[in-house]
Amino acid sequence: MARRNVSSSSCFFFFFFIILCFQLKICSSQLSSNYYSTSCPKALITINAAVTKAMFKERRMGASLLRLHFHDCFVNGCDASVLLDDTASFTGEKTAGPNNNSIRGFEVIDTIKSQLETLCPQVVSCADILAVAARDSIVALGGPSWVAQLGRRDSTTASISAANSDIPSPLMDLSDLISAFSNKGFTAKEMVTLSGAHTIGQAKCLAFRRRVYNESTILSSFATSLKTNCPNAGGDDNLSPLDAASPFSFDNAYFRNLVNNKGLLHSDQQLFSGASTDSHVTTYSTDPATFHADFASCNDQNGEPQSAYRERRSDQNQLQEDKLSLITAFRLY
Ligand code: HEM
Ligand SMILES: *[C@@H]1O[C@H](CO)[C@@H](O)[C@H](O)[C@H]1NC(C)=O
Ligand SMILES: *[C@@H]1O[C@H](CO)[C@@H](O)[C@H](O)[C@H]1NC(C)=O
Repeated sequence: MARRNVSSSSCFFFFFFIILCFQLKICSSQLSSNYYSTSCPKALITINAAVTKAMFKERRMGASLLRLHFHDCFVNGCDASVLLDDTASFTGEKTAGPNNNSIRGFEVIDTIKSQLETLCPQVVSCADILAVAARDSIVALGGPSWVAQLGRRDSTTASISAANSDIPSPLMDLSDLISAFSNKGFTAKEMVTLSGAHTIGQAKCLAFRRRVYNESTILSSFATSLKTNCPNAGGDDNLSPLDAASPFSFDNAYFRNLVNNKGLLHSDQQLFSGASTDSHVTTYSTDPATFHADFASCNDQNGEPQSAYRERRSDQNQLQEDKLSLITAFRLY
């Protein structure tokens, strides 16, 4: 009898210990590439099909989806906060200076989310949808691919003030750009690599007018050609490609432009302006394979999201147990 008690109580503790280990493992678990493989096996293919369709309708959408992910991740981590509308208790990020009338692609994410809610209700986070959509967009435009690490959780709140302070401005000089990225755990070199995203997509006249009319570090023939569509006054919303050489190709032309003083934004040209980051730009301008390899690694190389992505992940893991309820609470659905 006594023996049996001992045995069952040690069995109990053993069982308890296993459960504890399991919980700790979950709580400290990293994002994983097979996160939805049983809970929503068609998640990735659904996202890919929707991104392909949206880009077929409008090619620029790939760039817009990538930027949406960037602006999500730079404001309190990749938690889909960028998607939240204003509520009684907070003002969302959509109307923050860098976002207002500028970020786009919400309807693509909404469509994907509602498809996934039908397929596997309350399983796939919007933050993961943003990450996979950005990856698939880059791939569709000839860029590098990587294995997306999944399991991000959606925030129920957003911060317009963090969006205003943390997303870099196109008027920034190199030192401020370096700081903005360093605040998120990125090195200056990683900042240059990630800026290579400007090899796709468009910018408004408002974002580069001062550079075109008032800067000396811009090739004059390039400035002249931009002025037609970006008058000195008016036309704020008129668009020009960030990489005029190949606006729909995720290649290294952005860096070749910089070497030729053909950066569109002031912040772009700052990366090649006779200072510390010139060498990285030069390398990428002649070596597209290295740019691609480094770009993919800034996101998720070998399952290890870097810097900001990694930092946020550990925050989120402390709240992992709330996963389903948080997704349920997510305002869009
Ligand atoms: C280095 C600091 C950066 C600054 C100052 C900056 C600023 C800007 C600005 C001003 C625009 C044009 C927006 C408009 O006119 O509506 C833009 C577009 C874009 N940015 Fe950045 N950006 C930076 C870094 C990044 C990074 C790291 C990524 C992604 C990894 C990114 C992805 C994009 C894309 C894809 C577009 C085009 C979006 C579209 O066509 O809809 N940018 N950026
Ligand atoms: C955002 O843009 C809208 C439309 O242009 C404008 O009315 C509004 O004042 C802007 N919001 C902020 C916070 O700047
Ligand atoms: C260019 O600089 C001049 C003199 O500083 C200023 O008056 C003008 O508004 C600037 N133009 C633009 C487009 O920023």
